[in-house]
This record gives sequence, structure tokens and C-alpha cells, in this order.
Amino acid sequence: MAFLLPILLSSFLLSFPVPSSSTSYSNLTTGSSLSTQDVLISTPNAIFTAGFFRVGENSYCFSIWFTEPYDGNYTIVWMANRDQPVNGRHTTLSLQNSGDLVLTDAGQLTVWRSDTISNSSVQLELHDNGNLVLISSDGENLWQSFDYPTNTLLPGQYFTENTNLVSSRSTTNHSSGFYRLYFDSDSVLHLRYEGPEITSVYWPDPWLNVWDAGRSSFNSSKIAVLDSSGFFQSSDLLQFYTADYGIGPQRILVLDVDGSLRVHSLDKASSSWIVTWIHNPEPCKIHGICGANSLCVYDAEIGRKCSCIPGYRMINQTDWSYGCEPDFQLSCTDKSASGFIQLLHVEYYGYDIGYYANYTLERCESLCLDYCECKGFQYKFDLIMGYYNCYPKTILFNGYRSQNYQDPIYIRLPIVNVTTFQSSVQDFNLQCPNQVTLLERTYQKENQDWVKSFLWCTLAVGAFELIWLLTYIYKTRKSTNASRIQGYLQVATGFRKFTYAELKKATNNFREEIGRGGGGVVYKGVLSDNRIAAIKCLKEAIQGEAEFLAEISTIGRLNHMNLIEIWGYCAEGKHRLLVYEYMEHGSVARQLYSDKLDWKKRYEIALGTARGLAYLHEECLEWVLHCDVKPQNILLNSDYQPKVADFGLSKLLNRSGIENSNFSKIRGTRGYMAPEWVFSLPITSKVDVYSYGIVVLEMITGWRSTGNHANDDSNVVDPRRLVTWVKKNIQGSDGRVSQLNDIVDPSMNGEFDVRRMEILADVALKCAEEDKDARPTMRQVVDMLLHQEYD
Ligand SMILES: *[C@@H]1O[C@H](CO)[C@@H](O)[C@H](O)[C@H]1NC(C)=O
Ligand SMILES: *[C@@H]1O[C@H](CO)[C@@H](O)[C@H](O)[C@H]1NC(C)=O
Ligand SMILES: *[C@@H]1O[C@H](CO)[C@@H](O)[C@H](O)[C@H]1NC(C)=O
Ligand SMILES: *[C@@H]1O[C@H](CO)[C@@H](O)[C@H](O)[C@H]1NC(C)=O
Ligand SMILES: *[C@@H]1O[C@H](CO)[C@@H](O)[C@H](O)[C@H]1NC(C)=O
Ligand SMILES: *[C@@H]1O[C@H](CO)[C@@H](O)[C@H](O)[C@H]1NC(C)=O
Ligand SMILES: *[C@@H]1O[C@H](CO)[C@@H](O)[C@H](O)[C@H]1NC(C)=O
Ligand SMILES: *[C@@H]1O[C@H](CO)[C@@H](O)[C@H](O)[C@H]1NC(C)=O
Ligand SMILES: *[C@@H]1O[C@H](CO)[C@@H](O)[C@H](O)[C@H]1NC(C)=O
Ligand SMILES: *[C@@H]1O[C@H](CO)[C@@H](O)[C@H](O)[C@H]1NC(C)=O
Ligand SMILES: *[C@@H]1O[C@H](CO)[C@@H](O)[C@H](O)[C@H]1NC(C)=O
Repeated sequence: MAFLLPILLSSFLLSFPVPSSSTSYSNLTTGSSLSTQDVLISTPNAIFTAGFFRVGENSYCFSIWFTEPYDGNYTIVWMANRDQPVNGRHTTLSLQNSGDLVLTDAGQLTVWRSDTISNSSVQLELHDNGNLVLISSDGENLWQSFDYPTNTLLPGQYFTENTNLVSSRSTTNHSSGFYRLYFDSDSVLHLRYEGPEITSVYWPDPWLNVWDAGRSSFNSSKIAVLDSSGFFQSSDLLQFYTADYGIGPQRILVLDVDGSLRVHSLDKASSSWIVTWIHNPEPCKIHGICGANSLCVYDAEIGRKCSCIPGYRMINQTDWSYGCEPDFQLSCTDKSASGFIQLLHVEYYGYDIGYYANYTLERCESLCLDYCECKGFQYKFDLIMGYYNCYPKTILFNGYRSQNYQDPIYIRLPIVNVTTFQSSVQDFNLQCPNQVTLLERTYQKENQDWVKSFLWCTLAVGAFELIWLLTYIYKTRKSTNASRIQGYLQVATGFRKFTYAELKKATNNFREEIGRGGGGVVYKGVLSDNRIAAIKCLKEAIQGEAEFLAEISTIGRLNHMNLIEIWGYCAEGKHRLLVYEYMEHGSVARQLYSDKLDWKKRYEIALGTARGLAYLHEECLEWVLHCDVKPQNILLNSDYQPKVADFGLSKLLNRSGIENSNFSKIRGTRGYMAPEWVFSLPITSKVDVYSYGIVVLEMITGWRSTGNHANDDSNVVDPRRLVTWVKKNIQGSDGRVSQLNDIVDPSMNGEFDVRRMEILADVALKCAEEDKDARPTMRQVVDMLLHQEYD
């Protein structure tokens, strides 16, 4: 539901209703005029209304809005004079004999005009697509509001080289705000922040080249349009489908007050707008939102949050765009008066004094001190070159924190205050979601029932063990392959709605079952575009379509090369289906039982799975615990690349229904459950770490597969026995990992990399610690595996 929040905040909501005693016209002819009381109604279906919209106590703007109120307010789609409201007394919009449409205030002052000339008579009409058109009697289209959008683009309205979308100043103030959508000279659509002092492009990510951002500069026609079915296409190759793709709902593309570009679709039943596409689900990546010297953090519960960096205070208590100012005096001449504090996982974009490769921390500090204007420096590890780079900064701007961002920033402060602020850094870092959503768990010991309640926690907001991160700072990261980090790049996702008939046809009437569990049966299918899909029918899913869609969008936004991709959904009648990419090689469980995995594959699976889980856990955007990590839920594509499946399903399923269902089939997952479940301890992301550790131990030892039969219940792994057995067998008297041959799966025929196997076993044992605080985070697991790889 967090995804729905921004809608309520969006800019296009109206603040005040229109005067009631108005005269309605269907057109305006030469020589006539509209007063503030009059409105023009669109033909033939009266979907839109044009008239003087009250934007303040006694100020009006000539606007077009949806005739019906939605979300309890009118939705404005266009304004003629957004930056220059009129006072409403002797205000008219008149169609002059010259053919000019003129808005005058107080009887004489011209506030706005269409600048049109015609010798013949002209007529002003409002069409049902929301376009206000000035047509001459010989049918010539002299002027149209579609050519001058404000913050909204309607379906069929072309966005071109000559048009811009500019956000509103605030939800209640419709004048021009700070964000702009435009075609730049490179023929690519960009979003730019244009603040009072600073301007910067934030979409596509400015550090990406055009092609890497999924765009192209080759087509210079600079044209884009959202069609009536919810498909957006731009000449720079940007294209997307809205989540509710299909002819039907009214849609609007709005550059919202917060700088996000969203498509809002009208839900007729509730008369409200629902977000069905967003340009980037990471709201903190929008520049300028928190001003200078501040930091943006996104929390799924409370949304986007700004805070000043330690040592700084907010300039204007009511408006973050002014940013923060230093709460200290710093002597420039005396270098020893300055000190630095470190903030983890924080990036400030731009405003570098320079770029200094292969600098030690000491050298970078000393460099910053050489410049009076240096406010701090980004100290960034270069994965390709294998050393740190130093970026001293003159302005600390566009700051955000994300667990996906690996490197720290160092802030320059008076040395006398450094220790005071150092202690506040911890609280500061804890602003990421740190609450645990406690789940209603009803289980008794030694009873299978407790299994099922735990299975449904999947999408829970979890606590993140920051203490761990604070104490775990990597000083010796080694060079690694650039393609390894590609997986962390997020792409804006677009997925579509399927009809039930379509999916029925695709699966040949649900003929080929390929899996079961996790709330439903999975069938193989071929979509109309010949893509092979895995289609999951959810039993007992939530029935409200809007709710379902909101949850789906959350899952749909999670995009990582080690997470299974979701292509779409179907919500029709009582049917709730999810459409996933099909994975050629099935699950790790299947491959493991059939001895098809050599050492290299096993290692890649361990690494890929860790990456996928790290992404789920640590992305500040939305905290997702998997809670059901097991070999059956790790799928393999044609290259044996692992993808984690079945995450984020819990919210889709109706909990009350679940209590009554029969889950004897999946009791095997018991073997992967962390002790916290049994002892009723707080559930954090460390439960997944534990399960992951057990899965890796299983892959190393092949324990389960050496038993009688995979489905045989008596052979379910007791995780503690497995851990003890591995520990006993490999730890020599010096405590070092050794004697691997005793534990390694015999089906590997002794063909493995001893050094890496030691690391893997060591990491797996750490993950499977009884004490959750002794387990590393998934991110640390990734780092440990990567780090060792190139030693
Ligand atoms: C213009 O409006 C008048 C009255 O409001 C109506 O009689 C006339 O048919 C309209 N003309 C067009 C072209 O819609
Ligand atoms: C309509 O707008 C007013 C003024 O901004 C606001 O107070 C009110 O809550 C809005 N109504 C709804 C239902 O959002
Ligand atoms: C209007 O008429 C004048 C003279 O009759 C002519 O010069 C001008 O080009 C015409 N303008 C348009 C827009 O037709
Ligand atoms: C809206 O914002 C603009 C720009 O900040 C300001 O000049 C104007 O007074 C504001 N209008 C209202 C009604 O608050
Ligand atoms: C450029 O883009 C437009 C609009 O998408 C398209 O109609 C046109 O064919 C494209 N031109 C080329 C050369 O690809
Ligand atoms: C803070 O910003 C608001 C809105 O822009 C403005 O009305 C107010 O005067 C500002 N306050 C100060 C102290 O600058
Ligand atoms: C980085 O700097 C260190 C010491 O200054 C030097 O030994 C090392 O070779 C440099 N690394 C690269 C890749 O240039
Ligand atoms: C910084 O330290 C000085 C000296 O101890 C103190 O007077 C001042 O209040 C401190 N500033 C802040 C913002 O804590
Ligand atoms: C990264 O590693 C992959 C295989 O793991 C290899 O195909 C690729 O060429 C490497 N890329 C670079 C830049 O070294
Ligand atoms: C959940 O299931 C219960 C009973 O199975 C039903 O009464 C309830 O309406 C369902 N809730 C939703 C949101 O579908
Ligand atoms: C669950 O399924 C098993 C076997 O399919 C059956 O024996 C048992 O009665 C079922 N329990 C419930 C509560 O439906």
C-alpha cells in the first residue's frame, strides 16, 4: 500500500471547488466571452470542464479539469496562467474579432493570450480528450491546449521538442515548480531539477551514457505519446506499458510535485487515482528534494524523508528545498581545526573539485583540507581498477542513502565537534526502516502447524542490523569484474495485465503443471509473443483488484538479475494469476537431486542467490524478507544462473483463508528454518541468512541427495545436525577449515577449488550460526564471496 501513498500527495489534486452558480457552454464563438462564473463543457460526453478555477482566496486560473471529482477533489489537467492568477473581478476570457483568445484581469490587464489571428470567424471548443481547440470556420486548427501542457499529459497528446512538463510548486500551489520534463538537444527525454540556486538532470541517471540508460539519440524527431491503451512510446526508444495496460481506464501522465513522473489511472469503482507507472521507484534519486547539506532516506512506511547531515541545521523549517546550513564556524587557515566524520552508504552527486584516482584516505583528507571550500569528500572504491578514488566536494547536494550504495562520504567539521557528532552518526544511520512487523504467529512446538504461519510472512518489513555494518568496514576490497555489479542496477519496470482467457489459451487450458506450493499451482505457458512463461494461479489471494494491484506493483518493482522476473498479472473475477519468466532448468533442488551440478555451477548459484537476497533485504525502498529460502525456490535459467523465486507473495494472499488450508505438502521447508521461529524471537532479515547458510551447506555436502529419496519425509535435513556434522568434520585442531574431502558431495568427484570451497563452507557456517547477531548480512556474504574470488 505504500505505493499508493504518493497519489494522495500528488500535485494535480484540486484545493477548492468551483463556484456553483455557473452557466455552461459547449462552445465559445467570436465576440463572446466567459466570466469567472461560466464554464465550457467538453462534447459530447462532458468529461472535461474548462473555466476559472479558484486557486486562492480571491485568485483564479483559467483551467481544464475533469468534470467529476476524483479522490474527493477536482483534477486539473491544464492551466493558461498558472504563474499569474487573476483576481476574479471583471475577469474575462474573450474570443476577439481578430481571432485572438485573450484573458484579461480587472477589465484591461492582459494576463494571457493565444496569439492567434484569423480573418474568418472562429470557435473555441473543448473536446472529450481534454483538448481545448480554437477552430476557424474553414476548419483550420489555430490553437490547441495540447500544444502547451502544464504538468499533465493526456492520452493522445503529443509531447514534442517544443513542449515541457513542469511540476506544480506544491500540492496546493499550482504555479510552476522545480521539476521539468523535456527533450534535450541529444533528442532524449530528461527530467531536470531547476532549483532556486542549482540545476541538475536526474533522469536518466546522469552517469549513464544514453545507450546504457536504454535510450537512443539517433532519432531526432523528438516525439512521445501515451496512447489510450496505456502504452507510452518516445522517439528516444523509451517505452513502457502501464500496469493496467489495456483500453478502458482514464489515464494521465503527470510530473508530480515531488519530481516523479507517474501515470495515474482512474479506478472508476472508488473514483480515485492509482499509480500504474513511475519513472524510478527510488524517490531519493530525484535531485534537489532535500536541498543542500541534507540527506534523503526512503522508508516504505513514512515515505521520503529529509534530514540535515550532522553539524548542519535546517534553513527554513517548513520547506526542505532551502536545505541546511552549517551550525559551526570553521577556520580555513588552520588545517588542524578540521576533522571528518564518516557516513556509510551515502552518496552526494556532483559538485566535485576534481577526481583523484588511487588516493589513500589520509591523502584524500589532506587534499580536502587544502581547499577552503571543500565540505567533505566521497571516497569511492573503483571495482575495475581495484583502488579508491577521492572526490572532494564544494557542495553537498543530491544526497541520499541506500543500502545499495557501497561507499562512504566523509563530512568536514570542526575537530572540537567531531566526537560529539560521531556519536550521533549511529542514530543518523538508523533512519532506514528499522521496525519489525511482527507477524501473527500461532504455533505450538513439535507441531507442523507452526510451519504454515511462518511461510506467509514473506513480505515483511525487517530490521536491519546496522551495528553490524558500522563495525564491519572493508578496507581491503579487491578488484573484481565489472559485470558483477551490473545486477544492482535497477531498471524501471513495466509489466502488464493479462486477461484470464489469454492465460488459459497460453497454458492450453492449464495443462502442464510444473510446480506447486507457495500459495498456488504453477503451469507452463506460451504467451502470444512466443515467450515461455511460468503462470502461477494463486489460491485464496486477496480479492480487491486495487489492493491486489498495489501489492503486485511492489513485487513488480523489484528488479534484479538474481530475482525471478514478473511479467504481469491477471485479476479477473475470482482469478488471481501471476506471470513469471520460465526457468529452463527448474529448481536447484531438482538439479541437486539429479547430481547435475558441478562445482563451478554450485559456486555461481551460491553467489547469485546471495546477491538476489541482498537486494531484497537491503534496498531501502521496500524491505522484503523472503522467509522461505530453500533449494526449491532457487530456479536456474538456461545458463544455470540462479534466480530467487516466490518472494513477496504473502501480502497477496488472504491471511484469514490461509489459517484453514492444508500445507502438509511443504513441510520440508522446516529444514531451513532459523531458530528464531522456534523460540519466538524477533524476525529479522537474518532468518533468510540462516536458511541461505543451510542451503549452501546442502549444496556443498549434497547431504539430502545422498539419502534415500528427496521426497522422503524421514530424510528432511535437521539443520542443526547438518551444521554440527560439517563443523566436526572440517575444523582441525587449529580451528581452521580443512579436510574438505570428508564433507564435500561425492558426486563432485573431488573436482573443486579447495581455496574457494573453504571460503564457501566458512561463510555458510557463519550464516547458520544459532545467534542471529553472529550471522553476517546478505550483503556481507556477497562481499566475502566476491572478495575471495580474485585473491
Ligand atoms: C455552439 O453552442 C451553441 C449553444 O451553446 C449550440 O447551439 C451550437 O450547436 C454549438 N455549436 C457547435 C459547433 O457545437
Ligand atoms: C481536497 O483538497 C483539500 C485542500 O487541499 C484537502 O484539505 C482535502 O483533504 C482534499 N480532499 C481529499 C478527499 O483528498
Ligand atoms: C487576412 O486578410 C488580409 C487582407 O484581406 C490578408 O492580407 C491576410 O493575409 C489575411 N490573414 C489571414 C490569416 O488569412
Ligand atoms: C505559489 O508559489 C509561488 C512561488 O513560490 C509564490 O510566488 C506564490 O505566492 C505561491 N502562491 C500561493 C497561493 O501560495
Ligand atoms: C523516429 O521516431 C518516430 C516516433 O517514434 C517514428 O515514427 C520514426 O519512424 C522514427 N524514425 C526512425 C528513422 O526510426
Ligand atoms: C519558508 O518557506 C515558506 C514557503 O516557501 C515561506 O512562506 C516562508 O516565508 C519561509 N520562511 C522563512 C523563515 O524563510
Ligand atoms: C596505487 O598507489 C599505490 C601507492 O601509491 C601504488 O603502489 C599502486 O601501484 C597504485 N595502483 C595502481 C593500480 O596504479
Ligand atoms: C562545537 O564545539 C564547541 C566547543 O566545544 C561548542 O561550543 C559548540 O556548541 C559545538 N557546536 C555544536 C553545533 O555542537
Ligand atoms: C567478467 O567475467 C565474465 C565471466 O565471469 C566474462 O565473460 C567477462 O568478459 C568479464 N568482464 C570483464 C570486463 O572482465
Ligand atoms: C478472505 O477470506 C475470507 C474467508 O475465506 C473472506 O471472508 C474474506 O472476504 C476474504 N478477504 C478478502 C480481502 O478477499
Ligand atoms: C491435509 O491433507 C492430508 C493429506 O492430503 C489429509 O489427510 C488431512 O486430513 C488434511 N488436513 C486438513 C485439515 O484438511
